[in-house]
Amino acid sequence: MTKQEFYLTTPIYYVNDKPHIGHAYTTLACDVLARFHRLDGKNVFFLTGTDEHGQKVQKSAQAAGKEPQEFTNQLSQNFRRLAEEMNYSHDDFIRTTESRHIKATQDLWTKIRDNGHIYLGSYSGWYAVRDEAFYGEKELSINDKGQKVAPSGAEVEWVEEPSYFFDLSKWQEPLLDLYDKNPNFIGPKSRKNEVVSFVRGGLNDLSVSRTSFKWGIPVPGDPDHIMYVWLDALNNYQTGVGYPETEQGAYKSFWPADLHMVGKDILRFHAVYWPAFLMAAGLSPPKRIFAHGWLLNRGEKMSKSLGNVVTAADLTENYGLDAVRYYLLREVPFGQDGYISHESMVGRINGDLANDLGNLVQRVLSMVNKNCDSKIPIPGELTEEDITLLKASEELHLLVRAEFDEQAFNKGLELIWKIIGNANRYIDKQAPWVLRKSDQLRMQTVLFVLIEVIRKVSILIQPIMPDSASNILDQIASPIDERQFSNLNDKFSVNPGTNLPNPYPVFPRYVEEESQNGNT
Ligand code: MSP
Repeated sequence: MTKQEFYLTTPIYYVNDKPHIGHAYTTLACDVLARFHRLDGKNVFFLTGTDEHGQKVQKSAQAAGKEPQEFTNQLSQNFRRLAEEMNYSHDDFIRTTESRHIKATQDLWTKIRDNGHIYLGSYSGWYAVRDEAFYGEKELSINDKGQKVAPSGAEVEWVEEPSYFFDLSKWQEPLLDLYDKNPNFIGPKSRKNEVVSFVRGGLNDLSVSRTSFKWGIPVPGDPDHIMYVWLDALNNYQTGVGYPETEQGAYKSFWPADLHMVGKDILRFHAVYWPAFLMAAGLSPPKRIFAHGWLLNRGEKMSKSLGNVVTAADLTENYGLDAVRYYLLREVPFGQDGYISHESMVGRINGDLANDLGNLVQRVLSMVNKNCDSKIPIPGELTEEDITLLKASEELHLLVRAEFDEQAFNKGLELIWKIIGNANRYIDKQAPWVLRKSDQLRMQTVLFVLIEVIRKVSILIQPIMPDSASNILDQIASPIDERQFSNLNDKFSVNPGTNLPNPYPVFPRYVEEESQNGNT
């Protein structure tokens, strides 16, 4: 049977910003899904990259006294480094200044134009360079410094220039029809309602080229114009799978994308403009767009100008990579805004990781080490309680998959931790340390059941905490090639009698500085 394809993308990041934990968050969610689907036997393509054209990047390059290309060459590296620091498993990293993308985007433009959806006119109106977006007068307000600002808080400037327009106003009905026929096209539901009412309110034609600066992809046949940076940027999703080659290769297998993951601030570009561009070019729109919330620091979205930026390294160096990966997806219901704090991080590390999962593994493995000659114990007959626990851990995969398919990571993790809780209650009740003296066979059975539960849980948490999960799986001698989801319900793939290495703790407790110094 051929594998089912799954194509997912992150937004491409503006190079001028230093990567922070907000950027890391979006890509982390995609990484977890990419790993999850690979373990589920799918042929996954996971794309990320950098957005390098436009006025914002050009201005930042000028301010740094650099040519834009040299500037973006340097800064794009920051996002590649972030991907390494966070252990992302992307299959490609795209840059919009690459020739493959320039070619692909000129092709997209030509298709839209040849289909009669682009016309020449002249734009006069408000533009926010920070958002790279046009705004109508009614959308603007005055901030406390007396400046005219967009709803995002970005300052706007008046722009008047010749411009090509995309006939977005004609796409209201096709878009509403698309949302209607594909109920999962936009997630979460609350965001979908916002988009639908925006489109119902009527759409204006969209200015899709600029003439007042040069840093962009030239419009085919009229190089005085460069393309609007969002048209350019959105098309990275097609370039990444080989567009304009649509009849064979990656595009044929992977397009339309299964999921574009985005922050809520850029949903409109993805859920309105992007499918309209694609439909106008005669191409298929993506299958789903999910808009997550913001990670807030002191109640505000992180930004350089607010000076409240937390980087991924700030967190991972202090708490450890896997703990941060777990925390970010467990603490905040994905889709909503959420606060991150030292206290809640330590709570999760010492509670969920060290106490719940870490202790379970540690207790079981040190008992096996001391009382079973460091070998996976040979079980006797299973009792009803053993079977209940095993059965619950067997059902876990499908339940977690259903949550992850909705991008409800926190709920999927909650389900896994419920089983970990059950396993901890089971060990307390069965008390293998007592059985050691009274009933060796029963002790072996209990420890065997627990190893099996630990195996299932560890296979399932691989997408979230790849290193920690493999440390646990190594300690129970789970063969490397038997860690797919298809192995989850192999009849006891941990082989009784197998030798185990000496156990070591996987999730250390977080100890505050003062107590390290003996002050508590
Ligand atoms: N370049 C555009 C995207 C083009 S995609 C075709 C862009 N770049 S961005 O670097 O400004 O933002 C990229 C993503 O990072 C967005 O989805 C945004 O929501 C996300 N985040 C930036 N700060 C964030 C937080 N503080 N919290 C969560 N995500 C945030 O927009």
